[in-house]
Parts: sequence; C-alpha cells; structure tokens
Amino acid sequence: MINEKVLIEIEEWAQNKLTECDTGHDWWHIIRVRNNARYIQEKEGGDWDIILLAVLLHDVADNKFFDEVEALMLIEQKLKEEDIDQISIDHVLKIIQNISFSKRWSASTHESLELKIVQDADRLDAIGAIGIARAFSYGGHRGRDFYNPDIAPQEYNNAEMYRSSNSPTINHFYEKLLLLKDSMNTKTAKKMALDRHRFMEQFLKQFFKEWGD
Ligand code: ADP
Ligand code: NI
Repeated sequence: MINEKVLIEIEEWAQNKLTECDTGHDWWHIIRVRNNARYIQEKEGGDWDIILLAVLLHDVADNKFFDEVEALMLIEQKLKEEDIDQISIDHVLKIIQNISFSKRWSASTHESLELKIVQDADRLDAIGAIGIARAFSYGGHRGRDFYNPDIAPQEYNNAEMYRSSNSPTINHFYEKLLLLKDSMNTKTAKKMALDRHRFMEQFLKQFFKEWGD
C-alpha cells in the first residue's frame, strides 16, 4: 500500500498539471475514473496501487495537451521522487502509454489486468449521461457546431486524422462514443457500458426527433 502522504503529493502534482487542460479532462474526470476503477477492481481483482497511480496520472500524458515523451519523463521523475519502486513505475508508465482510445491505431506494447481496468474506467466516463455532457462541453470549447446535417460522420484511419477532425459534436457519437461499449475489456465494465450506451441511443433518438429528421 502506498502511504497516504505520498498519495496526496502525487494527487496534488497531477491536479496542478491538469489545470492547464480543456473541459473534458478536468479533475472531476479523474475522480470519476477512480470511482469506476475501484468498482471494477473490487469485482475483477488487480493491484489497486498500480491502478490508482495510473488513474491519477493518465491524462497528464494526453498528447492533445502535452508532448507525450516529455510528460512520461516528468511522471517517472515524480514517482521516483516519491520513492515508488521501479517495477511499479514501469507498469504505471506502460498503462498510461496504452490507455487512450486514439492509441487503437498503434500496436499495444503492454497487457495487464490493471491496464484493462484503467482503460475501461476511462472509457466508461466517455459514455452515458456524463459522456454526453463531456462531448458537448469539449465541442463548445473547440467552437464546434453541435450538429450540422450536411456533414456526415467519418471513419478515421489514424490518430492524426481523428485529432484534427473538426466535425460536429453529434458526429462524435458515431465516430467514437457508440463504439466504446464493444471495446470494454472486463465483464464488469461491459455490463456498466451497456446501460450507458442505451442512454446515449435514447438521447440521439430524442435529439433527431426534435430536430425534425
Ligand atoms: P482519449 O484520451 O481516450 O483518446 P479523447 O482525449 O479523444 O479520448 O477524449 C476525451 C474526452 O473528450 C471524451 O469525453 C471525448 O468524448 C471528448 N472528445 C474528444 N474528441 C471529441 C470531439 N471531436 N467532439 C466531442 N467530444 C470529443
Ligand atoms: Ni481520461
């Protein structure tokens, strides 16, 4: 078990690093992902210390906001400073490097139950009512239309294309959010995802009804 003081240090450090971020990656996201991860870990097992560290630090290396290599180095340095052992540090870094949805175009370099759980916990926060809220707040932050019937959803073939897309927020549901339920790793997350998925379908149905399509 990591001691409470070290944990608080790391939490505060991560929180500071994230304050420069957009609306989709705020600290409440980390709190929600931690809660999701805890729930999944209680059912599926896995090393909670590793999961917790990866959850707290995973968005510090999000390549939309920071240079990833540099961020990973900073994270490693911080964990060393806090006397976390090297095996745990390496595991946490591997998880952070492999967690993102946009990494699905590159070969995974790591597999572990802990990665599966952190990935599931993060993806669950992108769907359901909270996922809807995050998508529209992200879209608003980027100044995007929330819907434009003249622009069809796109299929992306690589991370650059996905990142540089300027498509309306409703399209993001078809390009990513509705695909997430089938990408869950653990049985527990699959079950949670189904409920959230159905809610998004219901939302879209009502949205298009009101739009008059
Ligand atoms: P990941 O870090 O897993 O690759 P992203 O960083 O792309 O995921 O997404 C972070 C949050 O921002 C998610 O809630 C996601 O749905 C939202 N988001 C990302 N891209 C868009 C977009 N084009 N339109 C609306 N929301 C988006
Ligand atoms: Ni995240």
